Amino acid sequence: MGKKLLPIVAGLALLFIGAVAGMKYAGDNRATVVGDASRYTAASAGGELTKSVGGSGAGAVHEVRDGDSIQAAVAAAGEGDVIRVYPGTYSETVYIDKDDLVISGVVVGGAWPVLEGNRELNDAILYSGNDITIENLQIRHYKGNAIMGQAGNNFLIRNNEVIDTGVYGIFPEFGTNGLITHNVLSGIEDAAIYVGMCDNIHVTNNEVFDNVAGIEIENTRHSIVENNYVHDNTGGILVFITPGLPIKTTYDTIVRNNFVVDNNTPNFGIPGSTVSGIPAGTGILNMAGDRTTIEGNVITGNKTIGILITDHMNAPNVTLDPGADPNSDEIAILDNLMWNNGYDTIPEIRALAALELVEGEVQIVNVGTSTDSCILDHDKYVTVGLRDFGTCGFATTADVATYLLDEPAERRIIAAEDMGKRAYYGVCAGCHAYNVKMIGPPTRVIQALYHDDPQGIVDYITKPVKKRDDYPEMPPQNYLSEDVRMAAAVFMLSITN
Ligand code: HEC
Repeated sequence: MGKKLLPIVAGLALLFIGAVAGMKYAGDNRATVVGDASRYTAASAGGELTKSVGGSGAGAVHEVRDGDSIQAAVAAAGEGDVIRVYPGTYSETVYIDKDDLVISGVVVGGAWPVLEGNRELNDAILYSGNDITIENLQIRHYKGNAIMGQAGNNFLIRNNEVIDTGVYGIFPEFGTNGLITHNVLSGIEDAAIYVGMCDNIHVTNNEVFDNVAGIEIENTRHSIVENNYVHDNTGGILVFITPGLPIKTTYDTIVRNNFVVDNNTPNFGIPGSTVSGIPAGTGILNMAGDRTTIEGNVITGNKTIGILITDHMNAPNVTLDPGADPNSDEIAILDNLMWNNGYDTIPEIRALAALELVEGEVQIVNVGTSTDSCILDHDKYVTVGLRDFGTCGFATTADVATYLLDEPAERRIIAAEDMGKRAYYGVCAGCHAYNVKMIGPPTRVIQALYHDDPQGIVDYITKPVKKRDDYPEMPPQNYLSEDVRMAAAVFMLSITN
C-alpha cells in the first residue's frame, strides 16, 4: 500500500468524525417525539431498521424528573407505555421485567438525564422484558454494566452515552432481534458493546473508544456490525466463540464499513478474562467464529495487526470446550482499506512472518486451521498464514441489508424457578460435574464447602480467586446478572447427583 492513500484515509476519517460529533446532539430534537400508534419510531436513529424492534410506544406517557425514581415509573408502567426521563441525576439500578416499554431520555438545551453509579452501584439498567427501547441516556460510573439484557427479544438501544461503567457497557444476552445504534461508549474494562448468545443483531453507527474491547460478537448467529467508529481500544472488533457457554456457535457475522483505527490502548482487562489476552494494537479479531465476512472496513494504525484470525488452540486465556468447534472456518476477507497496521507487532507474529519469509508490516494473520476460507485480493495485503485461503467467489454482502426480522420475534419468557437450573446446566456444568473432577472441582466438594451459603458462591463466581494448584483459574461469571448467579448457586447446592 503506497503512501498516497494517506490523504484519502484522512479525508474519510474527517467526514466520519463530523458525523459522530453531530450524532451526540441529535437527541435534542429526537427525544421530544413520542411514539406513533405502531412501533416506537421516533425520528431518525436507526431509520428503516427499527421496524421490528423496541417498544410500541402506544400506551401512556410517564414523566420522570430530577429527584424522582425511574424504577418507580417502571413499576407503575403498563404494556406499551413510554417513560420520559428529564435531565437530572439518577443514582439507581433500574430493573425492567415487563414487556413493551420505552425508556426515553429527554435532552433539554444540551442537558441530559444522567444515571450515576458513583462507582458503588453495579448496574444501571437490567432488562428481561421483550420489546424494550432504551435511548437518550447518559450512564456513568457503574461497576458492572450500563445496560444489560437477559433473554429479552426485539430490543432497541440507541443514542446513549456510556462512560466508565465497569465490566461491560451495552450487553444484551440471550436476545433475538436487536438493534444497537448511535451509542457512544468509553472506559469499559471488558467489551463496550457485548452481544452475547444472541441471534439476528444489528450494531451500527456507534462510537467506541478507550475500552479493552470495542465491539464483541460472542456465541451469536446472524449479526451485522457496520458503520461504527472503533478507535483507541485494545482490540477493535471481536467475533468470538467463547468456550464454556451454553450456546456453542458463532456464525454468519458481517463486519463491514467500519473505521477501525489506532486500537493501541494498553490492555486493562481483568486478569484471567478472555479479553485480557488480546494484544494491544489488534484491529479485528475472529476467534473460532465461522462464516465471518470482513468487507469495506478502513483499518489503520493498529500496531499489532489489522485482522487476526485464530482458533482456540492458539488463543491465550482460553480453555477448550469439547462442545465447540475451535476453528475459524469459511472466513471471507473482501476488499478492505488497510494501511499502517502491524508496525510494532508481537514476537509471535514476527516469528510466523519469519517462517514464511514475509517482510514488512503484516496486515492480516491467520493462526491455526481455517477451512474453506477466502480472500478477495490476496496480493493487495501483506499476509501470514493465509496460504490455504482461496479467492472469494463473491465481492460484496450488499444483498444482505440486515438480519433483523421483518416481524418482532416471539416474546421469550423464563420462569424464575428455571433460571438456576438453566444457568447451572448451561454454564457451570461445562466445568463442574457432581462426583468427578472435570475442569473444575466436583459439585459435591463445593456443596461441602458452601452448604448453606449460596451468597458465598455468588461472591466467589463473580470474582474468582485462584485456590487450587491442580486446577486452572475459574473464569468470572459476572456476565450473568446477580439474580441468575444467585439462582445458579442455590441450584448447585440443591442437586444430589
Ligand atoms: C470454564 C470452567 C468453569 C465454569 C464454566 C465454572 N467453573 Fe466454577 N470452577 C472452575 C475451576 C477451574 C475452579 C477451581 C478454581 C480454583 O480452585 O482455583 C472452580 C471453582 C468453583 C467453586 C469453588 C470455590 C471455592 O471456594 O473453592 C465454586 C463455588 C464454583 N466454581 C461455582 C461455579 C458456578 C456456580 C458456576 C456456574 C455459574 C461455575 N462455577 C462455572 C471452573 C469453572
